[in-house]
Amino acid sequence: MTRALLTMLSLVLASTAIASTPADARVDDFALLDQRGEYHQLYYLKDAPAIVIMVQGNGCPIVRAGLATFKAIRDAYSPRGVEFWMLNSNLQDDRDSIAAEANAFGIDIPVLVDEAQLIGESLGVVRTGEVLVIDPKTWQIAYRGPMNDQLTYERTKPAPKANYLADTLDALLDGRSVDAASRDAVGCLINFPERNRDHQSISYSETIAPMLEANCVPCHREGGIGPWTMSSYRMVRGFAPMIREVVRTKRMPPWHADPHVGTFEGDRTLSTPDIQTLVHWVEAGAPRGAGPDPLADAGRTFEDWPLGEPDLVVSLPAFEVPASGVVDYQYPAVTNPLDRGVWVRAATIAPGDRAVVHHALAGAVTELPGEDDLDAVFDNYLIGYAPGAESIVYPDDSGVFVPKGGAFTFQMHYTPVGRPATDVTRLALYFADQPPPHIMRHHVVLDPTIHIAPNDPAYTDTAYIEFERAAILYSMFPHAHYRGRSAKFELIYPDGRKELLLSVPKYDFNWQREYRLTQPRSIPAGGRLLYTSVYDNSARNPGNPDPAREVPWGLQSWDEMLYGAIMFRWQDERSDAPFHDPRRFELRQMYGFMDRDMNGKLELSEMPPRMRQGFEPHFDTVDRNGDGGLDIDEYIGAMRQRVSQR
Ligand code: HEC
Repeated sequence: MTRALLTMLSLVLASTAIASTPADARVDDFALLDQRGEYHQLYYLKDAPAIVIMVQGNGCPIVRAGLATFKAIRDAYSPRGVEFWMLNSNLQDDRDSIAAEANAFGIDIPVLVDEAQLIGESLGVVRTGEVLVIDPKTWQIAYRGPMNDQLTYERTKPAPKANYLADTLDALLDGRSVDAASRDAVGCLINFPERNRDHQSISYSETIAPMLEANCVPCHREGGIGPWTMSSYRMVRGFAPMIREVVRTKRMPPWHADPHVGTFEGDRTLSTPDIQTLVHWVEAGAPRGAGPDPLADAGRTFEDWPLGEPDLVVSLPAFEVPASGVVDYQYPAVTNPLDRGVWVRAATIAPGDRAVVHHALAGAVTELPGEDDLDAVFDNYLIGYAPGAESIVYPDDSGVFVPKGGAFTFQMHYTPVGRPATDVTRLALYFADQPPPHIMRHHVVLDPTIHIAPNDPAYTDTAYIEFERAAILYSMFPHAHYRGRSAKFELIYPDGRKELLLSVPKYDFNWQREYRLTQPRSIPAGGRLLYTSVYDNSARNPGNPDPAREVPWGLQSWDEMLYGAIMFRWQDERSDAPFHDPRRFELRQMYGFMDRDMNGKLELSEMPPRMRQGFEPHFDTVDRNGDGGLDIDEYIGAMRQRVSQR
């Protein structure tokens, strides 16, 4: 072949390779989870000088051979703010196999797992090994092609002569224009079976509308919390580009648990094929096609009491929600009108105005809380409401006991929606005729000593609770404020084995939710539940009130909380012989945030300053076995003694 022919051929190849994303097209925002289940969103990196994405595929020799160079370029340019990702759109790879490949080949760069292939398709990806450089100033692709001219199939030059990627980054960093926007890449062709398919034939009537009805209409209907109603094809077509965006960025449906970890009640995440179908339908122009419009009669009414006529309805005082602004959490309390203790077997919360109630928590206390008790105080937690999760039915064999007297207490989260609203939310309770055999308990894994460093994008803190007896776990509820970034609950067995129970890769303060396990989980005696919360105190976090601040614990949203609530019961606690000791549990709770290294020994150095001062003079007597740290029983013994001495 002549040189001229070769050049022509490569031009032809290059232009087909980028057919679906012309060089001047804007790259739309997207979010994906990586091989470790961590969340990455493109537009979060809006202030980076450049974003580099290498297309990865397991078993591709070109990718493997290029890794060392890619990492070297990463090491050279990430100190200057350039961000590096890999993207896997392969049909045949999944999170586990990608994690295994990453382990085997030392990939320490996030590999974004493009399960639905939508991101690879829209970026015009053709082969693994290709790199894309995105310029966040314009969100255009500044360069796509090979990193350099070193690698071809079965041939490797000793050293590259041209360094396209590094040259592009130098140009972007210096504000110069980039030489060539695209070059022909070498690597393994990726199978995108949907790429050239005609998506005009996706049926609105039979496929799209039923999918929306099941997953979106529960909120997006008249009187619901969704800001617009999915009440007709016309509405859906008008919002179609926005539907594509919220699905690609994983904002909707608002369900924040990693779908690869555990199964939970009321899960509304769209399946991967559903995501593909919905986005392809939008990209095909949201065709109406033939057939009736199922959304015309969908979700007409809300049922107040889906569980039937309640035994007690508690109405909250009316609350005026302004048209705009931010409303702090409200903590109303209502005197308990009952003249006897009751066993609650089920509960429902019916918001007065569903459009403004973002979440609600309800419980009972034996004494009416004082005016300055800003927090929700629950001796007996009952139910958490989130749109689409309004009722709880406790397992047949257990319930929550509410003694007579005291009050029902609430935490209310209201969001203004552009018009003033008056809300009267009601709590409905259903009583058991007989005491159930077991007692449902509610507790929190927390760390009130938290201090988040200024400007830290991923400050990580943990706390654990060790179960002294066997227990059964029913639900988990991660909570943080505006800086919350991600959260997870792990079960650590007495033999050290660790199991991830819930992962929330992108925590969202706006959506407080309890994740109820479809299969309650046994926790053996000595098992530990470890709660990890990560905070984004950087300027990139759009919700961050002040990145320069060192953030302490506090109930207000400008402070932070490490707070993982759980619902569980002791396996062998019977309602006719309760043994749960809340004070003892609280001491274990404290131990679990102080014992940082989790070695089951609380050293003086791990104690908060005031406690250390108290313990220091007689530490040797308290540390009975003299191993330099307090085990949990030594600690509880010492704390109880100190209290009794006061
Ligand atoms: C649990 C209730 C709920 C469900 C389920 C839900 N949405 Fe939403 N949606 C909302 C709320 C509330 C907003 C307003 C923005 C916010 O608060 O995050 C919203 C906003 C939107 C928006 C506008 C985005 C904007 O600019 O704020 C679109 C589009 C959307 N939703 C699409 C969907 C689709 C598609 C589904 C189903 C796949 C869905 N939603 C499921 C509650 C819900």
